[in-house]
Amino acid sequence: MLKATFQGHSCVSITDGEQNIIIDPFLTGNPQATVKAEDIKVDFILVTHGHGDHLGDAVEIAKRNKATIIAPNELAIYVQKQGAEAHNMHIGGAYEFPFGRVKLTIAHHGSAAGDGLEYTGNPCGFLITMDGKTVYHAGDTGLFYDMKLIGEMNDIDLAFLPIGDNFTMGVTDAVKAVEFLNPKIVVPIHYKTWPVIDAEPTEFADKLKGSKTRVIIIEPGKSLEI
Ligand code: NI
Ligand code: MN
Repeated sequence: MLKATFQGHSCVSITDGEQNIIIDPFLTGNPQATVKAEDIKVDFILVTHGHGDHLGDAVEIAKRNKATIIAPNELAIYVQKQGAEAHNMHIGGAYEFPFGRVKLTIAHHGSAAGDGLEYTGNPCGFLITMDGKTVYHAGDTGLFYDMKLIGEMNDIDLAFLPIGDNFTMGVTDAVKAVEFLNPKIVVPIHYKTWPVIDAEPTEFADKLKGSKTRVIIIEPGKSLEI
């Protein structure tokens, strides 16, 4: 059994009871966060891209936990330069970690870190297989037709999709993404953190009524089990 906790914005923690991972650990400065970065205990940290609302506290959490950051190559190099352990990957590649398998998917977005906008390569999404369950975290992305291929090739138990618009898919495009991906459960993320991404998750859920996919809207700090 997997327990996934939505930490607000795009941050998700997942545990199988033994191994603990966190995706896009933006906690310091995240108005939705209900936990502090210093209270996070994890073995691995997955980061989709270099933007501050995703890279967040990753380096601090990695150093304190002696945890490894899993990221696209250029972003992995960026965090290694700051003294964090990292495992470099790239889009299309998968690797077996102690907690499970991670495959990097495309994401249509940007990726730069820090005030100097240091280049951190291509952004990504993650397909995570852990304890026999497949979780897809799309990262920040617009809708793309290859989501259909991701849905065809993977039996997705749980998908985290951005719905906030402006920087990522909005509600209408995210509904189409669900149609392509065909996950058992979808959880909307990346909305209402700031006024510019003030999308309504209930509108997303309403538009998916009658779909095979169950929409679960999770309050920050709350979990679901699959
Ligand atoms: Ni971004
Ligand atoms: Mn973002």
